[in-house]
Amino acid sequence: MQFVESFWNTDTEYIALIEDLLENSDLIKLGEITHHHFTTRLTHSLFVSYVSYRIAKRFDLDTKAVARAGLLHDFFHEGRAEIAEMKQGSHNYVHPKIAVNNAEKITLLNDIEKDIILKHMFLTTKCGLPKYKESFIVTMVDKYCAIHEVSSPIKNIAKTRILSYVGKINPVSN
Ligand SMILES: [Fe+2]
Ligand SMILES: [Fe+2]
Repeated sequence: MQFVESFWNTDTEYIALIEDLLENSDLIKLGEITHHHFTTRLTHSLFVSYVSYRIAKRFDLDTKAVARAGLLHDFFHEGRAEIAEMKQGSHNYVHPKIAVNNAEKITLLNDIEKDIILKHMFLTTKCGLPKYKESFIVTMVDKYCAIHEVSSPIKNIAKTRILSYVGKINPVSN
């Protein structure tokens, strides 16, 4: 994640696309919510937004829609228990709908942006297929980021424990 952060916050072209959103206090509150065990919902959203933006740029797609909707794709403050209490469906089915409602309160969304947010969990829930290439990019990047966010700290913990264990081993001399 650090490598992406060091790029996105110096990429002025990217920042110009999302800076108005980063002034919204409700969106910034996502920085107080743990996401994927080791990161925050805001950091995850920036990660997804920036990686998706770079891919969209490379393929000459709608970079603005991808950057903005990528940042807004998980714009919800509820935890799993609160979403379960709503009894409107699974977490994966409900949270994109909450996110699109919250996003519409702070910005106008075009069809591509709505599709990106609403369909970003299409691999794991019945919400219909994405209509745009931009939506597929954000979905795939979301899964890549989730795996990276969970696996990197676990790898580091395992590495630290192994090194600590190895350090305690006394070699037997003959
Ligand atoms: Fe999500
Ligand atoms: Fe996500």
